[in-house]
Amino acid sequence: MNDAPQSPEREQTISRRRLLTLAVHGGWVAAMGVLVYQIGRFLGTEGLASGPSPLVKAGTLADFPPDTTTYVPEARAWVHRSAEELTALDAVCPHLGCLVQQNGPDGGFRCPCHGSEFGNKGELQRGPAERPLRQLDIQTQADNTVTIRTS
Ligand code: FES
Repeated sequence: MNDAPQSPEREQTISRRRLLTLAVHGGWVAAMGVLVYQIGRFLGTEGLASGPSPLVKAGTLADFPPDTTTYVPEARAWVHRSAEELTALDAVCPHLGCLVQQNGPDGGFRCPCHGSEFGNKGELQRGPAERPLRQLDIQTQADNTVTIRTS
């Protein structure tokens, strides 16, 4: 072991070396954190997803008049109220994830990104999407609160 006093120049060199080592290790830790986060996003892991929470309060029954279709942004869903029931469709296009829009007075939905078209009940009418819009579970509570399960 070398107990000899070190010159200030030598101490400064060691300090720089330690600083460089810490910077390299810190960079590796940050890179691994970003890598794990991106893998989690790619795999669609719960908790890392940036979409709406699974159970969304969409409002009350009065917010959905009969024979209307209403967009609920918190759920990214289109809610239709007929005389008999409330239904909800996921507004996320099954092709590449754009949000579908209502398709004018003819009804149905159209994706603005690549032109996929869906019927009023989400059925696929025209690609490039290969699946229909996803039906979401929608419920009305006793106090007329409407909730949508988005996953
Ligand atoms: S994202 Fe909807 S058609 Fe491509």
